[in-house]
Amino acid sequence: MKNFKVVVAGCGGQSALWMHYAVKRSDTEIVGLIDINRDSAVKAAEKFSLSCPVFDNPKDAIKNTGANLIFNLTTPAAHRDIIITSLESGCDVFTEKPLGATWEHVLQIKKVVGNSVNRLTVMQNRRYLKGIRALRDIFNSGMIGDITFLGVDFFLYPLGDDHWYGYRTKINHPLITDMAIHTFDMGRFLLNNADPVSVYCHEFQPKASLYKGNAGAVCIFEMSDHSVFTYQGNWCAEGCRTEWEGMWRATGVKGSAVWDGIGKPYFEIPMPENEKNCGYKSDRYKRIVADYNWPVSGGGDPEPIEACLEEMYTSLIEGKKSETDWSDNIKSMAMVCAAVKSAEEKRKVYIDELL
Ligand SMILES: NC(=O)c1ccc[n+]([C@@H]2O[C@H](COP(=O)([O-])OP(=O)(O)OC[C@H]3O[C@@H](n4cnc5c(N)ncnc54)[C@H](O)[C@@H]3O)[C@@H](O)[C@H]2O)c1
Repeated sequence: MKNFKVVVAGCGGQSALWMHYAVKRSDTEIVGLIDINRDSAVKAAEKFSLSCPVFDNPKDAIKNTGANLIFNLTTPAAHRDIIITSLESGCDVFTEKPLGATWEHVLQIKKVVGNSVNRLTVMQNRRYLKGIRALRDIFNSGMIGDITFLGVDFFLYPLGDDHWYGYRTKINHPLITDMAIHTFDMGRFLLNNADPVSVYCHEFQPKASLYKGNAGAVCIFEMSDHSVFTYQGNWCAEGCRTEWEGMWRATGVKGSAVWDGIGKPYFEIPMPENEKNCGYKSDRYKRIVADYNWPVSGGGDPEPIEACLEEMYTSLIEGKKSETDWSDNIKSMAMVCAAVKSAEEKRKVYIDELL
């Protein structure tokens, strides 16, 4: 008997990655598929040779299949209803980011999950890259001292791919709500889960944007460890692109670190006296490239969905909180929603205002 009877809600682009992982697990059976577009669910069933039934809503799907775990891979506007119905029907939920489409949705989810015995965990795959783990190791080693500044650039133009002409081009604040959630969550992760205190966000619409909502933003966060975390992004920047993981720079009291989002991060510290040569500028700093020390499960996956799913499953099996449990993820969501509020009201917003 399989322990996890899974219903997959939302059979679009992202679902293939999740289902690819789920069908490999010996403890998991996909017992139903949900999509408001029936064809998408039927195609997903064919692709993975599944004979399970197809539904258009979670209530019917759970009632008819006896599911105990829901994968929520719908578009963000649907997350609240799918998550709440699933929890209220006695299922655990693994959901794609963002936890909710708005702060109001997030608070409604919080109310239900706070009173539930079931678990809700959020996909934040970019924390599971070996590069970001290596950058955090640099911070934690103390070699560059306490971090006073953390900055990240995100510049991409992904719309050549048909998939990207979907819901992202039609929603408000697409960069901040659909994409920057990853980067804000990575920032919190790197700062050892320092809490956000305030944000000033200036959103803008780059010329020639194909999105309805603003696709550019600059954000300045004050964090509870007194560091400043800045983000600048443009989701329709042609040329000189960054990786999807962003390009990172950190300044500590003893040195600095850089990660280009794909290779190994490195740091520079003043050259020890005994290693200096003849005083050329290049002798002033010693550069050290980090090692990868983190054993990555789901390795080889450029966006380690599988590594994050692995941790979600392990947490569920062992009855402990996942790294991306809703109760942690809500802090990254607060960064997103406070940034949106700041952009709309054109002022600095304190996170406390949301709580
Ligand atoms: N973690 C990542 O790296 C990553 C990457 C891409 C997308 N995502 C997230 O995954 C989710 C899905 O994105 P996608 O790219 O697959 O989108 P998509 O538009 O390709 O697929 C979404 C599917 O959900 C269905 N759907 C919408 N509302 C529904 C409802 N109420 N009930 C049932 N089905 C419904 C749609 O018909 C569609 O088939 C989003 O939350 C997105 O932010 C995460």
